Formats: sequence, C-alpha cells, structure tokens
Amino acid sequence: MKVGGVAYRAISLDGDGWGVRVIDQTVLPHRFDVVRLETVEDTARAIRTMLVRGAPLIGATAVYGVALAMRSDPSDASLDSAVELLAGTRPTAVNLRWALDHVRESLQELPAAGRADAAYRAARSVCDEDVERNRSIGRHGLAMLHELAGDAGRALERPLNVLTHCNAGWLATVDWGTATSAIYQGHDAGLQVHVWVDETRPRLQGATLTAWELGQHGVPHTVIPDSAAAYIMRKREVDVVIVGTDRTTGCGDVANKIGTYPLALAAADNEVPFYVAVPSPSIDWGTEDAGLIPIEERDAGEVTSVRGVDVEQVPRAVRITPAKSRAMNYAFDVTPRRLVTGLITERGICGASGDELRRLFPDHR
Ligand code: MRU
Repeated sequence: MKVGGVAYRAISLDGDGWGVRVIDQTVLPHRFDVVRLETVEDTARAIRTMLVRGAPLIGATAVYGVALAMRSDPSDASLDSAVELLAGTRPTAVNLRWALDHVRESLQELPAAGRADAAYRAARSVCDEDVERNRSIGRHGLAMLHELAGDAGRALERPLNVLTHCNAGWLATVDWGTATSAIYQGHDAGLQVHVWVDETRPRLQGATLTAWELGQHGVPHTVIPDSAAAYIMRKREVDVVIVGTDRTTGCGDVANKIGTYPLALAAADNEVPFYVAVPSPSIDWGTEDAGLIPIEERDAGEVTSVRGVDVEQVPRAVRITPAKSRAMNYAFDVTPRRLVTGLITERGICGASGDELRRLFPDHR
C-alpha cells in the first residue's frame, strides 16, 4: 500500500539483497521510520518488542530471521537455535510456528552451503504468498460487502459502516491486510465505505496503526473508544464487523486481540454480522480445544501508562493509574464460533465450524 504516494510492503529485502527492511510500528503514527534488521537477534527483538507485529507479519519476519542466521552460520546447530529463539518471541499467533516449521522443513535436508539462498527464497515466497492470500480474502470480503450494501439499499443513502478492532491491516501483514483488504479493494472500486476504528486498549493498535494506514489510503474512518462499539451498534450505525485473527482453531473458535470477544457479544445482541478474516496459516488444525491456545500476557506497564507525543511532538509515556495499583494485561481473547457469522479465507467465506473449514481446505495437514 502507499505511504505519501510511495508503494511499501511492511517487510522487504534491502537494496544489498540481504538486510531486511521493516517499518517501526512502535513510533507510528508520529514518525515513519524504516529499520534495517541484520541478524537473527535483531529479528527476534523486533518481534518481541512489537516493532513488527500482526500474525502474518510475525511469520514472514521470522523466516527472514532464519535467512539472516543461515547467512552467518548455516550449520544444523545454528538452524535449530534460530528457530528456537524466534519461536519463543510471541506465543499466540500460530503463523509464527507455521512459518518456522515451513522454513525448517525446506532447509534441513539441504547441504549447509545451500541453506542461506534457500532460506531467502523461502522468505520471498512466504511474503509473496501472503500478499496473494490477502488479495483473495479481500475479493471474497468485498463480495460480502457489496451484498450488504445492496441488500440494505445503503449505497445511495450513506456509506457502508464497517467496524474493526486492533490492526489487521497491511501493517500486520506483508500487504493489503486481512480484515482491511476488502475495505481497500471496495474503496478503490468506488464503494462508499466508512470504518469505525476501535482504539484497542492497551497498546492502541487501532488508534495508532489502523487509523494511520486508512488515512494514508484516503479511507474515511472514525476512531472510537473500545467501550463505544456496542452503543454505536445499538444505534444501527454498524453494518458489519470484520476483525483479524492470531489463531483460529480447526473448529472455528477465534483467538484475536483482547476485546474481540466482547465485540462479538455486542454484535450478536444487535444482530450485526461478525466476520473474521482468516488466512490459512492462521488456522491451527491441531488444536480443537480453544482453551489450549497460549494467551500472551504482556507487561502491566502497557495498562498503567499511555504512550504518545506531547505538543512539541516529543514521545512521552504518562502514568494513568495510582502508583500502587496492580494491572493485568492479557493480550488476546477467544471468541467462540457460535458468535461468528463467517470466516473469510483466501478460498472463500465459510461458517465457523470444523466441517465448513475442512470443506474449503480438504488438503490441510
Ligand atoms: O499484538 P498484535 O498487535 O500483534 O495483535 C495483532 C492482532 O490481534 C491482529 O488482529 C491479528 O494478528 C491479525 S493481523 C492480520
């Protein structure tokens, strides 16, 4: 997608053909910094500190991390320790494990001398496939949006109102985003669409990242406190909710950014369709019991203070709670499949159930 008129992917190879360029998501929207990763340690740190984030982008970044490790030492021991280091960075997004399994499998039978080139090839194809997957998710999602706009005859009266949570936009993927792909494609095709952007406490990925990328692309949007979503649905000002996912079980239960579950409850109570954009690497076929999904718990400081810039544009973190109050920071929740209207995958939209998912993905492993 474009930033100031220039096309970017959230991750790309640098001009020298080996360093990896990523956008620093910890300083957006106040600064646009492109950072170069040169080692597997740089890569692991970038994922852990959320310089890069979002399930598909974490996976793609990890494969580049393995490529950087292979460039400096292509031995079996180095491959194992790179995979172990990267796998330990963030626990919930299953794309990370998917990407690391994929790259390890493609490298381990190769002679050491061929591993670095093969790892870079794998990274490039993981990225290109992500872009194509998201483009397809957007195509299917857009057909659904057209149906909603047409059904309600809203196209002429007012824009179609989509509500989204966190950032499942292009910054969270290589390009297009998952939840945002249909929005961008619809906007580009002339569909009148307006996005309610949940701010997404505590790290504010909606207020900082989704709002920024929609704004860069010229998509009309309004940031709301997470707590306002149910009221706006009650006022019939939300036509559809579309969110992303960090891990969807083979049965259709959806782990996503904390706050997604209450959104789904509010959508069900107000009869607002609730869709989840699910690229296939986000499906955890091996886990049927959503209670077994590891839920990341992050530093309580993300809850007790808020980061931003002051009037002089200087970055600041300010404490908002009493110094002695304890805080809890679960980063994800699980939305039960009964609250999900449909899963938008690259192969089409299906109901949130094991049978429906297997019908679309009979070839899954
Ligand atoms: O903690 P984050 O910012 O990595 O969480 C991201 C999300 O929850 C996204 O909704 C999810 O990864 C889907 S991204 C296409």
